[in-house]
Amino acid sequence: MLNKKEIPFGRPWVEDEDRDAVMAVLQGHILTHGPVCHQFEDDFAAFTKGGYAVTMSSCMAALHMSTYHLGIKEGDEVLVPAQTHVATVHAVEILGATPIFVDCELETGNIDISLLEDKITPKTKAIILVHFAGIPAEMDRVCTIAEKHNIAIIEDCALAVGGFYKGKHVGLWGDMGCFSFYPVKHITTGEGGMLISKDEQTAKDIAHFRAFSVDRTHNERKIAGVYDVTGVGLNYRMSEMQAALGCTQVAKLDRILERRSKNFTALKELLLKIKGVRTVLDSNNPDVVNSHYCLVVILDKDLAQNRNDIVKALMSDNVGCSIYYPQPVPRMKYYDDQYKVNPAEYKNAAVISDASIALPVGPHLDVEDMSIIAETLENKIASIKK
Ligand SMILES: Cc1ncc(COP(=O)(O)O)c(C=O)c1O
Repeated sequence: MLNKKEIPFGRPWVEDEDRDAVMAVLQGHILTHGPVCHQFEDDFAAFTKGGYAVTMSSCMAALHMSTYHLGIKEGDEVLVPAQTHVATVHAVEILGATPIFVDCELETGNIDISLLEDKITPKTKAIILVHFAGIPAEMDRVCTIAEKHNIAIIEDCALAVGGFYKGKHVGLWGDMGCFSFYPVKHITTGEGGMLISKDEQTAKDIAHFRAFSVDRTHNERKIAGVYDVTGVGLNYRMSEMQAALGCTQVAKLDRILERRSKNFTALKELLLKIKGVRTVLDSNNPDVVNSHYCLVVILDKDLAQNRNDIVKALMSDNVGCSIYYPQPVPRMKYYDDQYKVNPAEYKNAAVISDASIALPVGPHLDVEDMSIIAETLENKIASIKK
């Protein structure tokens, strides 16, 4: 039976108050890099309960700023997850350094911390990890290893606004945390991102570099046109319209996270009863507060070859879904050509890429929708097994 109701994978939660805030900026004359960006930074840091926040044009920009700020360069190695968005790895590759891929755990999709130490060499400068699908990694274990070997940590928090570990927001454990506000993320600014750091000077330096390394903004210039440049830099600034949207979005983050959590819990319970479902990615560590970006379900081995047929069938039945992520990064053409990593090095990442489906739990949906998703998936699996 065709499910008539449309269940999109992601839908930005934009209401009148969001639109009004953007229009209010357009009534004025400061359209970029002004007081609303500072307000958004303050609001975001208040939400994460600590740290210094810097608005960015995207999470990719924040990741690039982070690797550049750490001085990563040709000849250096950086440990990265094999299972992540390619942005995590591009932030290393773009500087001519070498990404060293580390496999993930099958329970959470997070980097397998037990593999890290074996990959560290005298050339290792940093670890970048992603909090997969919004599930915080066990950061105290990562910090212990990084401290022992004197290497930096960058947290890719693109999917993890609202994720806490041992009471501390993700992004505040390592040296920098990078967030994305792309439309399907927890909150959106259209395009956009945020970098946070527990270290004020790091945040200040990166804020400076993000705006050409010019020593004062337009609004800070006492005499028009009089400014100086104290280093090289880039333009990774956020506009005031985006920041206005960011402020109204952060204001409803608690409501967004509550709905995500309810939907995730309901859907997980239903899915684990379905024949053909191997597991649902989640953490059973009581110190982990999952931010429930989406629900990643892994199909049984014998169904993996039919995964794309199942995705197609779900979509034709109006159940939106996605794949996080479609290939382990070392298997993607560019990285495969470049590094020829042995697939035995990323076995679990391949299972997630080849046998999983990411299902929606966003605030545009409610618990009844979760029953529709589970029932539709069960029917599709049953029809394949016949
Ligand atoms: C883990 C991860 N890192 C980085 C990014 C890039 O984010 P942006 O589009 O804001 O650059 C994404 C995008 O989905 C992501 O999933």
